[in-house]
Amino acid sequence: MKLNIAVLPGDGIGPEVTAQAVKVLKAIAMEFGHLFTFNKAFVGASAIDTTGNPLPEETISICQNADAILFGAIGSPKYDMDPDAEVRPEQGLLRLRKSLDLYANIRPVIAYEDLLNKSSLKVKQIRDTNILIYRELTGGIYFGEKKLSNDSASDICEYSRFEIERIAHLAFKAAQTRKGKLTLVDKANALATSRLWRKVVQELASQYPNVELNFMYIDNAAMELIINPRQFDVILTENMFGDILSEEASVIVGSIGLLASASINDKHAMFEPIHGAYGKFANKGIANPIASILSAAMLLDHFGLDKEAALVRQAVDKSLKLHITTPDLNTKYDNITTTKVGDFIEDFINNPEETNLNFKNIHLGQSTII
Ligand code: IPM
Ligand code: MG
Repeated sequence: MKLNIAVLPGDGIGPEVTAQAVKVLKAIAMEFGHLFTFNKAFVGASAIDTTGNPLPEETISICQNADAILFGAIGSPKYDMDPDAEVRPEQGLLRLRKSLDLYANIRPVIAYEDLLNKSSLKVKQIRDTNILIYRELTGGIYFGEKKLSNDSASDICEYSRFEIERIAHLAFKAAQTRKGKLTLVDKANALATSRLWRKVVQELASQYPNVELNFMYIDNAAMELIINPRQFDVILTENMFGDILSEEASVIVGSIGLLASASINDKHAMFEPIHGAYGKFANKGIANPIASILSAAMLLDHFGLDKEAALVRQAVDKSLKLHITTPDLNTKYDNITTTKVGDFIEDFINNPEETNLNFKNIHLGQSTII
């Protein structure tokens, strides 16, 4: 398959982790005889530094012409501390989502057996967690009218029936292929937009008789997610609640450095870790590339490259099992960098059998991988 992939590394740890995902995609292309081409473009603080614009026209056009976009991370402490800054790195990501109409953000939350004890939650509570979060990505309070003066400010939260219906259909369909359970998370006891969500989703439910539909308020869901995450299958929610809930969910998995995402519509698809740019940790070799690599696996899924995606996930599983992980997860080895994790996964893809032999050496410290 030929794929033209736009690569937007962004800021902070973005470039380091994205480089590992590109490495993995190149290995997959080589092994399976695909032709993946990569086109780099600026976004975020690095784009502001070079062009004054967090989402330059050239970047939009590269993304519009791409089959898929691989996104790193965005943000810089320089802007976080200046609430008056009119140009901000995050505008790059938000405008990109909006201009390509990437309305459905899909965030899997899977508790890996090998990482259960990395979570600050109890193992018996989180074991076998497997949740798919459908977060609406182009509406709600993020994109409503904004006003800010010295003594007052407002953000409007608005949703149309159309915006709710299109993502709800995707979430129902996803539930059909899984455990058949869909939970709409909202705040219908306080917000008019949430009441519209409930109404519309309830109406659609009759088209999906084999899906069990539940409703939960966001405050309650924030608690239930931590005390009994296994009760969830597919969660559907609006933009802001999805942002918060998915980051909370990373506690179950053990590190936010593991959570991948896909943001899609019929025409475009973007793949990105859910984590931020963490400027303080940039260029130290400690950023976990797994979220970015698993985002690349979601890219492969999107194009029906099932075997390829499965091999990437198998490689990731192996790296976790053998503690070939960055310090956020590693208590066994202290010398495993972002690049080494990427190299290991690349090596596994190139030669799963042979890498198996090398594992013994890794423990003896004799492998060339470490
Ligand atoms: C995310 C991020 C973004 C969001 C930020 C960087 C604007 O937190 O993708 O979860 O809030 O959507
Ligand atoms: Mg977030």
